[in-house]
Amino acid sequence: MTDAHELKQNLLHRREELRQGGGPGAIDRQHAKGKQTARERIDGLLDPGSFQEVDPYLTHRHSAFGLDEKRFPGDSVVTGFGRVDGRKVAVAAQDFTVIGGSFSEAQSQKVCQVLDLAVGSGTPFIALNDSVGARIQEGVWSLAGYSELFWRNTQASGVIPQISVMLGPCAGGSVYSPGLTDFVIMTEGISHMFITGPEVIRTVTGEEVDFDTLGGAWTHATTSGVAHFVAADEGEAFAITRRLLSYLPSNNVESAPRLPPGDDPQRADPALDSLVPPDGSRSYDMRDAIQRIFDRDSFFEVHARFAPNAVVGLARLHGEVVGIVANQPAHLAGVLDIDASDKIARFVRFCDAFNIPLVTFVDCPGFMPGTMQEHGGIIRHGAKIVYAYSEATTPKVCVVTRKAYGGAYIVMSSKHVRTDLVYAWPTAEIAVMGAEGAVNVLYQRQLDAAADTAAARQQFLAEFQEQFGGPYAAARSGHVDDVILPSETRGKLVAALDFLRDKQAAALPKKHGNMPL
Ligand code: HXC
Repeated sequence: MTDAHELKQNLLHRREELRQGGGPGAIDRQHAKGKQTARERIDGLLDPGSFQEVDPYLTHRHSAFGLDEKRFPGDSVVTGFGRVDGRKVAVAAQDFTVIGGSFSEAQSQKVCQVLDLAVGSGTPFIALNDSVGARIQEGVWSLAGYSELFWRNTQASGVIPQISVMLGPCAGGSVYSPGLTDFVIMTEGISHMFITGPEVIRTVTGEEVDFDTLGGAWTHATTSGVAHFVAADEGEAFAITRRLLSYLPSNNVESAPRLPPGDDPQRADPALDSLVPPDGSRSYDMRDAIQRIFDRDSFFEVHARFAPNAVVGLARLHGEVVGIVANQPAHLAGVLDIDASDKIARFVRFCDAFNIPLVTFVDCPGFMPGTMQEHGGIIRHGAKIVYAYSEATTPKVCVVTRKAYGGAYIVMSSKHVRTDLVYAWPTAEIAVMGAEGAVNVLYQRQLDAAADTAAARQQFLAEFQEQFGGPYAAARSGHVDDVILPSETRGKLVAALDFLRDKQAAALPKKHGNMPL
């Protein structure tokens, strides 16, 4: 009979074996690539000593193509739960030292199990990704495993926050689980996401492309919009993850974590009153307004480098978390294009799913003109913004800082998409279009006939400005609820969101709508 000492030694030996993953050689190769192991990453992310591993011995049951010799306890992922800044999270870290972190039936079983536990306990799910993609040797079992995970990511969407941290190659099917999650954090240099790699692209299309250009952190942060954040290294990726979590509720029935307010709710920053240049063709940085209005240093921009003509992010107002959406006059005059539409619609839906109130700042000349945009489906993409705002029942407050022209007026959180309160600064211009364009359309014949065209134009412009050059026409008709000084915005928003905190709203009964995707 085995005695207690021997049983203990046996278990400790097995635990040590687990820490070796795919073996010392594979760990050295991982380190040589500038990457940490799955367990080192978990230690780097979670509160010290909080990690509780789940299914550490679960391994694959396949033997074809030499898999018998590659059977490691735990297979190619480390899973479990723990805490980040004292709050519960579930975590799955792919282990590249075991067959390249390839996605196996066993990996799927383990990841699905912790994701199920996360949904059941209302806990955010964090995936640390580093994988070559589907385990080729397992054929359909690997594909079935992926499908099970994708199904769960979809079911969990809107119930718990799901965050993907990209820490290595993520090839083939490995990108679709991150693609289904709420936030993707990519790490410069070591992380790449692609459906088909450079080899396949060269064979099929003849195109020569390197990994970074194809699917590196910057490509996905600036061009494709797949990545919401870029980290310089693994440490920064975990710091971003922790900061992001600090703004998120653990699930869709809990509130986002509130901090004791450390900033005067009535703080009126006088610089705001001269921030917007009176000349509508001159720009300013909307992030400057945001920084001055919300709690000091609390603004956490999301998707910062993708579609910079729009700004989205999380911040705190008197200690409470809010989602911010804004046009950015400092880039392309804040025009709405396809990418900005996708960026805004997605963020609005995230905030609504987790009951985070939305504050929208509007300074937008309208939708981007041009064949590229029309052929790219600006109609379909722009419609997503209206859809997202119209569907959102979370408290919504809007501030028109300058231009709210045409379609932009409607889609950017107007009263008509059921925004609870719309404020306008004295610099607001709410009209079908800008004065120049409007005068050209309305008075073309009179301008052609005028003896002094320039003087006539000035007169028509002045008439138009008188009517639509300020916020008061919209305020008189109730399309704007009040005209406020920019420096009063913080106090007004604190009061509005305090009043709206327990807002109740019901939707019509239906299975689901048909968002214009
Ligand atoms: C099993 C694989 C593998 C795979 C690589 N390996 N790809 N094992 N299935 N798909 C093994 C390698 O043989 C190696 O094993 C180990 O993983 C690490 O791979 P390396 O090539 O040494 O790593 P690296 O140099 O970092 O290159 C990473 C890589 C490259 C660029 C991702 O491995 C690669 O191009 N792999 C193929 C990617 C791919 O085509 N995946 C399938 C996609 S299809 P040893 O034993 O030597 O350490 C797919 C379908 C799902 O995912 C679609 C669902 C929507």
